[in-house]
Amino acid sequence: MDLQRLEGILSRYACQPADLIPVLQDIQDSYNYLPKDELKVVAERLHLPLAQVFSVATFFTMFSLVPKGKHVCKVCVGTTCHLKGGQRLAESLSNRLGVDIGYTTKDMNFTLETVACLGSCAQAPVMMIDDTYYARVTVDKVPKILKKYQ
Ligand code: FES
Repeated sequence: MDLQRLEGILSRYACQPADLIPVLQDIQDSYNYLPKDELKVVAERLHLPLAQVFSVATFFTMFSLVPKGKHVCKVCVGTTCHLKGGQRLAESLSNRLGVDIGYTTKDMNFTLETVACLGSCAQAPVMMIDDTYYARVTVDKVPKILKKYQ
């Protein structure tokens, strides 16, 4: 456990129970996931039951209990994107990255996920890598997009 890194995060807060979500967000940003040992310390320091910390950590999709890749690729397979080839796009990414949807590449560079809607239905099919949106993505655009992150 990297206690020094965790203490750096906790030192920014008063360590009240209400700080739980912001603390978890900072840990997620720093570690790219929520390590279980760190969650035990968070529970102690915020005076919360560990079960409550895990409950919050597993409720929100922005948190992950397993390490994610350096880049998170989210492909929309919502209704509009599905009709415009979103599933085909997800399969293409899966084949090109050599990883099933929901998993992380062996080199830890990409985590591939699907989502129900990215809120840009008019530009379907849509995908995101980290904070960058890619609109009207066709399968033939995938290699050029991925190259930016390799
Ligand atoms: S269904 Fe894909 S952005 Fe809404």
